[in-house]
Amino acid sequence: MTAPIQASPLAGRRIVLGVTGGIAAYKSIEVLRRLVDLGAHVVPVLTEAALNMVGPTTFTALASERVKTSLWTDTDPIPHTTLGQTADLIVVCPATARIIADYRMGRSADLLSATLIATVAPVVLCPAMHTEMWEHPAVQENLAVLAGRGVSIVPPEEGRLAGGDIGKGRLAAPEAVVATVLDLLSAPGSLAGTRVLVTAGGTREPIDPVRFIGNRSSGKQGYAIAREAHRRGASVTLVSTVDLPAPSGIEVIAVATAAEMEAAVSRVAPRVDVVVMAAAVADFRPVAVADQKIKKGDGVPKIVLEPTVDILAGLGKVKPASQVLIGFAAETEELSRNATAKLQRKNADFIVANDVSAPGVGFGHETNAVTIHGADGSVLQVDLQSKDAIACAVLDAAERRLQR
Ligand code: PMT
Repeated sequence: MTAPIQASPLAGRRIVLGVTGGIAAYKSIEVLRRLVDLGAHVVPVLTEAALNMVGPTTFTALASERVKTSLWTDTDPIPHTTLGQTADLIVVCPATARIIADYRMGRSADLLSATLIATVAPVVLCPAMHTEMWEHPAVQENLAVLAGRGVSIVPPEEGRLAGGDIGKGRLAAPEAVVATVLDLLSAPGSLAGTRVLVTAGGTREPIDPVRFIGNRSSGKQGYAIAREAHRRGASVTLVSTVDLPAPSGIEVIAVATAAEMEAAVSRVAPRVDVVVMAAAVADFRPVAVADQKIKKGDGVPKIVLEPTVDILAGLGKVKPASQVLIGFAAETEELSRNATAKLQRKNADFIVANDVSAPGVGFGHETNAVTIHGADGSVLQVDLQSKDAIACAVLDAAERRLQR
């Protein structure tokens, strides 16, 4: 009788395993072994301090590629971008206070920190350190900021630490680390087979060759939605006015003005299942754009404005019954009344309302807080949290509507 074939849930997935200089570095060998057993292609990256704790030979023997340790000794001239761009996930196990601080600050101090900064793949950090270090406000603040950016943290356990101390700070069990990786990489793909169109950023309406009417949108909320839709298996098109890193596999159409965004959206929208208009589109634009830079010496110019096309309202008019149309509403007063008025006026299925006058909400922030108003009368309040978490709530609403 032949043995049953083991499922390889991580087959074909490239994982960078970062190992830093904590005493728990030896435990990352077990994590490496388990990931390889699950079918992953694992590339270990050891810091200089990690090499004081563990030997590279063991990692090379068990991994899918030989250990990488330096920005300078590899035959690849830019190893950090190659590793970061090709990774499906990076897990740092153990993660010392030093790598956590470098990653939070965007400081590229060695191959591992450079790789972390160069990636748009999901990142898992598994902190391990002495209790005093773990409890230090700087470490906790760094982790909170990283979690707000969508980094997954596998918290340490209580237990025996180096030097005989007992307390919180012991590296999480390999099973917990691997379970987090599995969660992130083998999610069922709840949007597999669907097509999603997302807009992001603020439009720029030119006044002359150097000036424009714009707004404070950074595009972070729209990119978070595009990333999450991609992670859930959707085929994603992102119409964007900003240049943020997007995962490979997302089609990005760069635009600047409301008219360009309208042209791109109306081309793509008829063939998608979900449209999310997270962009802050200008309501007005100058009637005439000066050919040359307007000179101060010519006096204060009179800039006459005209309305732009309302893209969302236009989509609402021609929307197929099966399509889920989601708009945002950036408000500074009367949040609920204005959002429900927009819901009806634009014939959307949902309006995601954010009170952009509240701290940490809306334009430019890493966080957002929204109320999702449904055309079916549903109202869902999502308190202040990362834009990635808001993206999940928005797409959960879209999925519920698709299922109906
Ligand atoms: O980009 P971030 O810095 O992450 O900030 C996120 C955000 C605050 C930009 C986002 O959460 C948000 O609220 N986006 C919508 C901003 C906006 O333009 O709101 P509005 O109330 O003016 O427009 C309502 C809806 O109509 C929006 O979906 C908008 O995309 C759409 N619209 C508006 C005007 C227009 N001419 N055409 C449109 O399609």
